[in-house]
Amino acid sequence: MTTQSANRLFGRRILLGISAGIAAYKSAQLARLLKQAGCEVRVVMTEGAQAFITPLTLQALTGEAVRTSLLDPEAEAGMGHIELARWADIILIAPATADLMARLAQGMADDLLTTLCLASEAEKIMAPAMNQAMWRHVATQRNAARLAQDGWRLLGPASGDQACGDVGPGRMLEPEAIVAELIQPISEAPHENAPAQGLHVVITAGPTREPLDPVRYLSNHSSGKMGFALATAAAELGARVTLISGPVSLSTPAGVERIDVETALQMHEASRRLAASCDIFIGCAAVADYRAEAAAEHKIKKREGEDGLTLSLVKNPDIIADVAKQRDAAGGRPFVVGFAAETRDLEAYARDKLVRKRLDMIVANDVSAAGLGFGADDNAALLLWRNGEGESGASLPPQPKTQLARAVIERALGCLTPRPVH
Ligand code: C5P
Repeated sequence: MTTQSANRLFGRRILLGISAGIAAYKSAQLARLLKQAGCEVRVVMTEGAQAFITPLTLQALTGEAVRTSLLDPEAEAGMGHIELARWADIILIAPATADLMARLAQGMADDLLTTLCLASEAEKIMAPAMNQAMWRHVATQRNAARLAQDGWRLLGPASGDQACGDVGPGRMLEPEAIVAELIQPISEAPHENAPAQGLHVVITAGPTREPLDPVRYLSNHSSGKMGFALATAAAELGARVTLISGPVSLSTPAGVERIDVETALQMHEASRRLAASCDIFIGCAAVADYRAEAAAEHKIKKREGEDGLTLSLVKNPDIIADVAKQRDAAGGRPFVVGFAAETRDLEAYARDKLVRKRLDMIVANDVSAAGLGFGADDNAALLLWRNGEGESGASLPPQPKTQLARAVIERALGCLTPRPVH
């Protein structure tokens, strides 16, 4: 149980903004949980949000009148919108729709909620929620990155079944998870002298999905847990983190910018674009080695009288090797960390990859060990790196992926100065 002194929400004034998504029905539970955590809660709803949940519900739960309009003389005669903006310690928008994100990213003030966001110096947090295609859209990703740069903390979205029948990223984090994120003591936030402060870390994570036809694909069992743990560790150590993620059911770590991709080619494109200007590039994704030469336009049908089916595959680019190669030509020099999942001769194969792919460091896992590696919460690793003095290594015993991730990031930071010379 959280004690009152450890609960940073106790006594805080939360302005809960609700926009027009189906997840708005969960905002009622969120308001209750915030009240239970000891917050003062006032609710502002956009016009569209009221089609999903009534102001009366939120009024009953918070004990406060719900504000819905900027141009409401009666409400303005009470607590005017500027006073309300000053009143809030935290503005929490849940759900935040694609439209609201776009308006906030542009600095618009075309309704009460967006006006309050501009007028308030409160801490700003949002939980995006929308259809998976809308979330993945380049415009929404651009807005999410802009909002993060502007100081917004984005919680989620989570991946999974969606109200519209789709499956993918875009679900609002559950109210309990949102409150758990908010309740974390401030001491867990990166501090001034965090060792990765000022560095940009780019991480690939999860599997890739290579379409065969509109309904089938080639993929693998990567859960993305290790890559997400690395992103969390790097952010906690103060880095700006961009996570390029294949399809996984994990929510975005706090303070991390996430770019969702499906295929190896999409991951390649995003990696090339970001690697040129980052300080550390970590290739943790389990990239499919091959893709269909051409995905069929229509569903591939069973053929009567034929027992076999031959698929024609072509090799995907080796993303990390390409990033490591690119940096020399472009003059940009990210420190490049790769992963090697092996079932035998771990060290020999890992050393070969370190040299052949021109990596600066490699994290080698024995994936034949029970309870470790793919999908598990724990992992062990052999770390090998190259620096000015030649090659060095360290063996990390089985431990939670979160701890292992921290050790990997700390080792990479230790190798950054002096910069590796090849
Ligand atoms: O060659 P192998 O797949 O074992 O190498 C693993 C390492 O290479 C990982 O860091 C992985 O993210 C990266 N990789 C890549 N692009 C590929 C294949 C692997 O970036 N096409």
